[in-house]
Parts: sequence; C-alpha cells; structure tokens
Amino acid sequence: MRLPKDFIMGGATAAYQCEGESKAHGKGRVAWDDYLEKQGWFSPDPASDFYHKYPVDLDLCKQFGVNGIRISIAWSRIFPTGEGEVNQEGVDFYHAMFKKCRENGVEPFITLHHFDTPNELHKNGDFLNPHTIDCYERYAKFCFEEFKDDIRYWFTFNEIWPVSSGQYITGTFPPGEKYDVVKTVESMHNMMVAHARAVIAFEEGGYEGQIGIIHSLETKYPYDEKKPGDVLAAEREDALTNQFLLDATFLGYYSENTLKHINFLYELENKTFAPKEEDMELLKKAAACNDYLGINYYQSHFVQEYNGESQIHHNGTGAKGTSVYRLKGISEHMFKEGIDRTDWDWLIYPEGLYDQIMRIKKQYPNYKAIYITENGMGYKDDFKDSTVDDEPRIDYIKRHLQWIAKAIEGGANVKGYFVWSLMDMFSWSNGYNKRYGLFYIDFETQERYPKKSAYWYKEVSETKEV
Ligand code: NOJ
Repeated sequence: MRLPKDFIMGGATAAYQCEGESKAHGKGRVAWDDYLEKQGWFSPDPASDFYHKYPVDLDLCKQFGVNGIRISIAWSRIFPTGEGEVNQEGVDFYHAMFKKCRENGVEPFITLHHFDTPNELHKNGDFLNPHTIDCYERYAKFCFEEFKDDIRYWFTFNEIWPVSSGQYITGTFPPGEKYDVVKTVESMHNMMVAHARAVIAFEEGGYEGQIGIIHSLETKYPYDEKKPGDVLAAEREDALTNQFLLDATFLGYYSENTLKHINFLYELENKTFAPKEEDMELLKKAAACNDYLGINYYQSHFVQEYNGESQIHHNGTGAKGTSVYRLKGISEHMFKEGIDRTDWDWLIYPEGLYDQIMRIKKQYPNYKAIYITENGMGYKDDFKDSTVDDEPRIDYIKRHLQWIAKAIEGGANVKGYFVWSLMDMFSWSNGYNKRYGLFYIDFETQERYPKKSAYWYKEVSETKEV
C-alpha cells in the first residue's frame, strides 16, 4: 500500500519525558515531580537529556527521514508557577531548539500541554479550578506571539481523557484519586473550554499557522455483539471516553447521545451534568476554526457489561483472561482469543485506528484534517551489537500505517504520522523500562543507537510504501 507523497513521517516526544533538567534553568515544578518523589519510583532526570542533546536528535531525524517532530513546550519552563513572570532562559531554549529543527528540515509540531500543569495551579485544583483556564489562555497567547516566526503547527492539549481519568478514576496521575467519574467529566469539559479559548485567541490574533487538539482514541467493541448489555456497555464507554471530546471539538456542543450516557453516569451519583451557557458558546466558536485533529492510538477494547463497583488494577490480569478494568455502571475490558497483546497487555488491533478515522469522517464531516500524532509499541528491547532487532515494533507500525493508507484510500484526509516515540524516553508509569523509540538510548551514557525500526522507517519515509 502507498501513502501520499507529502505525507509527514514524524517522530513524537513530550517535554517532561525527554528534556531532563526538570528542576533547572528556572523551570518550575509540576505535579509529577511531587508525585514521583512521593512514590519513590523514577526520576524524570536526565530522561533523554533532550535539553542538551537536541542537536544530535534532530540530526538523527534528518538522517533517518523523520521530517516532522512533535515536541511539547513545558509550561513551567516559560511560567515557572503557571502565571506571572516569564523565565527568559526557557524561552531562549525553545527558540534555539526550534531553529535547529528548521536547519535540519524537520517541521516542529508543538503541544502546549502534555500532562504537565505547573504545580501551584495543580495544587489549587488543576483544571477543575477556572483560574487554571485563565492562566492557560495567557500562556497559550504568550507562546503564539513569542514563537510565531518559528512555529506553524500547534496543538492545545494532549490526551484530555487519559489525563482526567488518570487523575480521578484510575489514580495513575497526580493527585491519584479514584472512581470519580463526575470530577473526570468536569475536568475534561474545563480543559475543552481552555482549548476553545486558545483556539479563539489564535484565530483573533490572525496568526499564520494552524491549530488543533490531540485526543487519545480507543475503539470500544462489544465483547459479544449479540448481547445487548455488551453493546450498551461499549456505547457508553465510547460516549465517555471518545464521543464527549469529539463532540466538543467538532460540534461545539454535546450531542443527545453523549448527554444521555453522561447523564446516566451522573445520576448514579445523584448529580446532573450542567455546563455553563458561556462555556458552550466558546466551544461552538472554537469548533468553527479548529484546523485539525491529532489522534493518539495504541489499542482498542472489547467490553462487557459490568454492574458492580469500580475496580481498577493496572498491570493486572484477571482470572478468566480479563484485563482488570471495571468501571462502575459501565463496563469491564476483556482479552479476546486471537488478538495479540504487547508486553504490557495492550491489544494490538490496527483496525481500531481505521474505525476511528472513518468514524470521524462520517460523524463529523466538518473535520478538516487528521494527523496520527502518536502510535507505537512499548517493548522490552534487547540491546545487542549496538542495535535492537525490534521486528515486532516494525510489524506493529507497518500494520497501523497500512490501515491508515486504507483510510486515505477511503477518502479520509490524514496528513501525517508521528511514531511514538522518536527516541527512548521516560515513561510515566514505567520509568525507563518501557521503550518505544526508533533510537535506543543508553541512559547511563546518553548515547543514541538506531534500532532496526529506524532503518525501516527511513525506507518508508522515502518510498511511502507500506
Ligand atoms: C500517550 C502519551 O501522550 C505519552 O506521554 C505516553 O508516554 C504514551 N501514550 C505511551 O503510553
């Protein structure tokens, strides 16, 4: 299969996961700093030392046909407490790095928020507190103006559902709370309002570039299509995790179907979902000027009806081949015979990505373009003879690219792909154990080594054949 000639073959990164120097050069703390220190698990320093090694990484991009890079700006490197005085050293760092991108012919795609709200704001309720929205808008406006000559492509947020649910459902993100669907929905809504305010500011500022948002989409299939309970569970989980955000992004309002399921969940807690009128006006306005959607896709789920209490154990495998993820009133995730899983039990199901792309095309025909902003395979790499023979990763990426090519053939406007990740990085819940990169990093010496997948990626970038 063939991808379009001008298709971007990029690599994705995120500030906190690759930069290192997490508490230096004037950078303020973020919630993850406290959280990791408290758990005593891993340190985000030096990560991939991108703060110093970016010239090496961008040179590798050039050598290996990686012509786009997803980078996030660390909010607290610009505004150490999230607001107030600017940290000029942080601003200078990003100018220098963006310049290097250009010198190497690598187009930078910038994410403004990748899981790293500054600590002061996080402690005061993060996006549950409207003050954070005000600060975020100010930060976004500052970046648009400051970097307007360097940057053409912007993303407001990375993965609102995983952030909010990690914070308030699974407890895998700070503040580590659990089973609170209501807080999760409120946080998602407020982040969408912050997104809208940034998009509107960008539009009103008359900047030349383009702007959009990144959602993590996982397709929810009923485990047994013949069971109405499973069908409803899949629909309900989709409404909460995918459709809520897609509606807000493309329609600028929540569709009846979304509201039906969200209200069902609110009623379990004797509450009603009642977004403010002025919020909805902002969403509506932003939906009209959103330029593209970024999709992060790793896996899909087969879901079964579940009426018990919430019960979530990550990295756990349940008795009857069930991945233990049970959400009160909604669903539980099941493994399925014949569907491969990664070392971390993530289902390898590239059709799920195709289904999401085609769903957007059909359900939100006003979408303009899609970038696959993350996709890749976390793997226990075996480093031998200065490289890694990562065939399974090649196979994973290839199959996803084939389904993307098929979606393009089917009329979807997908303009690029960013493999997660460009190089090995720090992983939020697995530290340095879970590797995704095209380039292997020896974290002791910070030397980079191309994996077999890097050579393969270069070939695809040149030929566009998958
Ligand atoms: C999504 C996130 O954006 C990224 O930060 C994370 O490391 C990858 N998924 C892998 O889980």
